[in-house]
Parts: sequence; structure tokens; C-alpha cells
Amino acid sequence: MSIRLGDTAPDFTQNSTEGEIRFHEWLGDSWGVLFSHPKVFTPVCTTELGEVSRLKAEFDQRGVKVLALSVDESADQKKWEDDIEETQGHRVNFPMIADADRKVSDLYGMIHPNASDTLTVRTVFVIDANKKVRLTLTYPASTGRNFEEILRVIDSMKLTDSHKVATPVNWRKGEDVIIVPALSDEEAKKRFPGGWETKKPYLRMLPQPE
Ligand code: BEZ
Repeated sequence: MSIRLGDTAPDFTQNSTEGEIRFHEWLGDSWGVLFSHPKVFTPVCTTELGEVSRLKAEFDQRGVKVLALSVDESADQKKWEDDIEETQGHRVNFPMIADADRKVSDLYGMIHPNASDTLTVRTVFVIDANKKVRLTLTYPASTGRNFEEILRVIDSMKLTDSHKVATPVNWRKGEDVIIVPALSDEEAKKRFPGGWETKKPYLRMLPQPE
């Protein structure tokens, strides 16, 4: 059964480059990004792990922990981290789940047998502070992901949680947002006393709340 939005993220205990991780306990009250990549010592993965290390402070600022995963032994993952630092200029600064027995990969449906029997595809699960899955993504092995996009979605979801606003196409932090349709005009008046622009009754725009 695949993991869907709104599901509780399955808990697990597994070895990592930073020792055993009990997932829910490790998350604590933070949000989390759990992402799989196909294999150690592969080129696209090398660039991705370097980029997530570069962006780590951005995830920290948002209260989001990052956790990578591949179906490898931690000794190999640790050796590979030297190559990542050498080629990408950033030392890996978050744990990598060593899922050689595929326990977590199977639990999260990260192996797609018609793509590869043995390697995980590039999945992303964003999990909120209540351990609910808020975003899932699946990319093919040959395409590196855009982790700035993951940050953008996290910013959007956090705005929705705190202010009942949604974000339009290609939205970037600081740009105008949309009042969620579930909020009536009466409720919106209380929440947004400064008002909004009604382009259509269902399309009410306003500057991004702080
Ligand atoms: C890579 O990370 O470069 C990669 C891994 C598996 C298949 C294709 C590319």
C-alpha cells in the first residue's frame, strides 16, 4: 500500500551514518524530509547530497530535519561522503539511513521494481510536526531533484497552517498569496483586517502575511 498525503509517516528503527535512528523519536517536534537516492558512488546522487548539505541551514531555519537513505552499508556511505565534500565543496551534515536490508525502502515503497529491482528511486517525503505526510515526490534515477523547490513547498505549507492562505503558481516567499476557499469572507475579514483584492469570488489575493 502506497503512502498518501495525510497518512501518519511509518515509524522505523534503522542504522545510519550517525548511528541507530528511531525515526519518530529522532524527528521529535520537528518537521522532516526523508529522501531516498539510488546508490553510493553514483554521479547524480553525489550532486544531490552536496546540495542538501549546502541548503542544510535553510532547512534548520524552518525547523526541518533532513534524512537521506540508500540501500547501502553505512561504511560505504561514510567513504562516499569524502568524495561528496571533495567534488561538491560541502561536507554531508545530516544522517544517511543505511538500508542495506531494505527495511525502510519497503516500508515507504521506495523501490519500484519496474524501474529497478535493487535500487531505490528518488523519493521525497515531507513530514510535519504531527508526523503526517504532507508531500510525496518520485523522480527517476537519472534526474536530480531541485531541493530549493522542497524548501518552497515547505514555506507554502507552513503559511497555510498558520494563516489559512494558499500560494499561487510559481509563488516565491514574499509574493502575494490566496485566501483558502474554505474561509468565508466573514472569517477572512477577521483574519485579514487590511483587506484583499477579489479578482473572482473564489480568487482572493493579498500580500503574504508575516
Ligand atoms: C546517479 O546517481 O547518477 C544515478 C544512479 C542510478 C542510475 C542513474 C544515475
